[in-house]
Amino acid sequence: MHLLTIESTCDETAAAVISGEGDVLGAALASQEELHRQFRGVVPELAARAHVERILPVIDQALRQAGLDSAAIDAIAVANAPGLAGSLLVGLTAAKMLSVAWGKPLLAVNHLHAHIYACRMAAGRDIYPCVGLVVSGGHTTLYDCAGPLELTTLGGTIDDAAGEAFDKVAAMVGLPYPGGPEVSRAAAGGDPARYAFPRSMIHEDHFNFSFSGLKTAVRYALVGPGKQDFSQLELTPTELADLCASFEQAVVDCLVAKSRKAVRHTGHGRLCVGGGVAANRRFREAMQQAADSDGFELLVAPPELCTDNAVMGAIALEKLRRGDYADLELDIEAGLVR
Ligand code: KG4
Ligand code: ZN
Repeated sequence: MHLLTIESTCDETAAAVISGEGDVLGAALASQEELHRQFRGVVPELAARAHVERILPVIDQALRQAGLDSAAIDAIAVANAPGLAGSLLVGLTAAKMLSVAWGKPLLAVNHLHAHIYACRMAAGRDIYPCVGLVVSGGHTTLYDCAGPLELTTLGGTIDDAAGEAFDKVAAMVGLPYPGGPEVSRAAAGGDPARYAFPRSMIHEDHFNFSFSGLKTAVRYALVGPGKQDFSQLELTPTELADLCASFEQAVVDCLVAKSRKAVRHTGHGRLCVGGGVAANRRFREAMQQAADSDGFELLVAPPELCTDNAVMGAIALEKLRRGDYADLELDIEAGLVR
């Protein structure tokens, strides 16, 4: 039994070949980081065009790595929600085309559920039930996960995603895209208590997040209220480090506080984290401390499975086992899909 998985929800074109036992036999990924860097963010039109160029070579590469041809593939899984419409359409169209050409069934993957399943792939064992946290460039969402496909949303961001806040702060201080790793690097050795940035809604009794006030507070700290021009900004290395560390700490504090609350609320005793921001070192350390002191198990996807990839599309094996196939009418769902 072999599954081909396709991922093109945002700016990574990826494909993987997964065995029925969940072993990764081949995995290929083409990143568009270089393409979007000059714009300090993903440009949807460019992303879609780049996916068109890359999707078939990436699929071919994954198959070659696995040493398999199309005859050995039993089903094709594709992330059809959520993401950028143009990007999603490229992956979905490729998957449908191969499904028809090869005569293999199609499976739909929810990209957010897959981000949590990345922990299942890394652990190599069952991780459910658990609390799931997806913390990426597009989402910051907490789930009660009864099973891999049985997710209930506990809460999420009401404005910016955590990764988006990292990317925007990076742009303010002149660091390249994607901003998360850059801000994190700049924060090393900085004083996380130098700037008293807000931790919105941290003590409120729900599981939602808000990062736009934090972003505004960083802007005020840099150029003052009501100003948008960052071109004259001159920060000493210490100021930059302190600002980045203080910002990073504020994001991490919110993520840790609400996740702890969710673990207590569900009683699951396990937290599984996926999405690009989960690659953040300060985040990992703080969450581990919380897990140790509260006594829950913490699973964070390894960095290469935190950011977008096709390996996490192995979640489709769960659908395959249940015979939960998609038909050729399958559409994308670009917007917020819980
Ligand atoms: O999961 P992902 O690859 O794509 C989405 O589905 O959004 O996440 C990308 C996001 C970007 O906003 C990036 O800045 C952020 O994850 N990110 C990080 C780190 N590495 C990536 N944020 C903070 N610290 C990091 N080390
Ligand atoms: Zn993602």
